[in-house]
Amino acid sequence: MRRSLSIGRKVKDPNLMSDKGSLVDSFGRVAAKLRISVTDRCNFQCNFCMPVHPVWLPHDEILSFEEITRLSTIFAKMGINKIRLSGGEPTMRKDVEKLVRMLVGVPGIESVNMTTNGFQLVDKAAVLKENGLRGVTVSLHTLKSDRFDEITATRNNFDRVLDGIKKAKEVGLKMKINCVVIKGYNKDEIIDLARLAYEEEITMRFIEFMPFDGKRLWGFERVFGGEGIVREISREYPLSKLSREHGSTAEIYAFTGESKGKIGVITSITAPFCGDCDRVRLKADGKVVPCLFGSEEFDIRPLLRRGDSDKKLEEFVKKSFFQKSSGVETMLKEQVPLMHIRPMYTIGG
Ligand code: 5AD
Ligand code: SF4
Repeated sequence: MRRSLSIGRKVKDPNLMSDKGSLVDSFGRVAAKLRISVTDRCNFQCNFCMPVHPVWLPHDEILSFEEITRLSTIFAKMGINKIRLSGGEPTMRKDVEKLVRMLVGVPGIESVNMTTNGFQLVDKAAVLKENGLRGVTVSLHTLKSDRFDEITATRNNFDRVLDGIKKAKEVGLKMKINCVVIKGYNKDEIIDLARLAYEEEITMRFIEFMPFDGKRLWGFERVFGGEGIVREISREYPLSKLSREHGSTAEIYAFTGESKGKIGVITSITAPFCGDCDRVRLKADGKVVPCLFGSEEFDIRPLLRRGDSDKKLEEFVKKSFFQKSSGVETMLKEQVPLMHIRPMYTIGG
């Protein structure tokens, strides 16, 4: 399933490249989506994400809503049109709906979405929708209540998350579900989770286990690949592949039956799509991260806090993004061992 690498270095100087001021890397890839981690805190402690003793960022190192909005405005001027809020758990950030409203108002931003563990949705779905949130992607890795407790290291929250999903749908938020698949752990539930997608007409995205687990348990032998996932589901529910959206991490399949539900596979490990990646990330403490699989981080907070001009910030972002690494696709091709770069709770996927 692995495809040949589609990118080669194209550009030598970020300024030469900057087509109408857009954000371009040295391979000619153009950024369109910004993922903002608004906090590293989380009320869950998923075993493929959190370390045993997470070290939280000090409060004064976390960007304020004003700082995030200012940066988003600068990113939007350079062609970013979609924002996704993540964490940690973004709803742990007090008044996060206010930030949603601020970001929805940024010129050029067409949609603001959120990746969440779903715990707060029973209470927050309506207010998030009112403030302009377009949709949520809820992480749900099992349909067994006891396994849910085990994965998240919490007690009795499974029903609450299901209620949250229901509530979010009721208030009109677009709904996707993320499920991290791990061999020997929840692979046995793929069909049941696909059934949920079929019956509830939602998009269920199966994510390959990535080496960003806080407990460092990752290994290739624990990755169950997208191809196998699709094969398994097809035995019960025939699927037809849809064309992949530009820059999308997921291959999407429709059910050939009645249901409008969809199945997605995020094959970051067995068949990554780096060639048209259009994402850039901002960590809660102001680090610009061009690539999830790259260790490069560029700290924009000092510039923000010493009062640098928008022009300076723009130049900083441009230079940072220019250094985006070719990505995991190249690493696999060159047989560079995949390493734990940062745990997922510090970057939000
Ligand atoms: N591998 C793959 N996905 C992960 N997530 C958290 N840790 C990992 C990991 N090690 C998921 C979250 C969330 C998304 C942002 O990433 O559950 O759905
Ligand atoms: Fe929290 Fe999400 Fe990490 Fe689970 S995967 S611990 S919900 S940040």
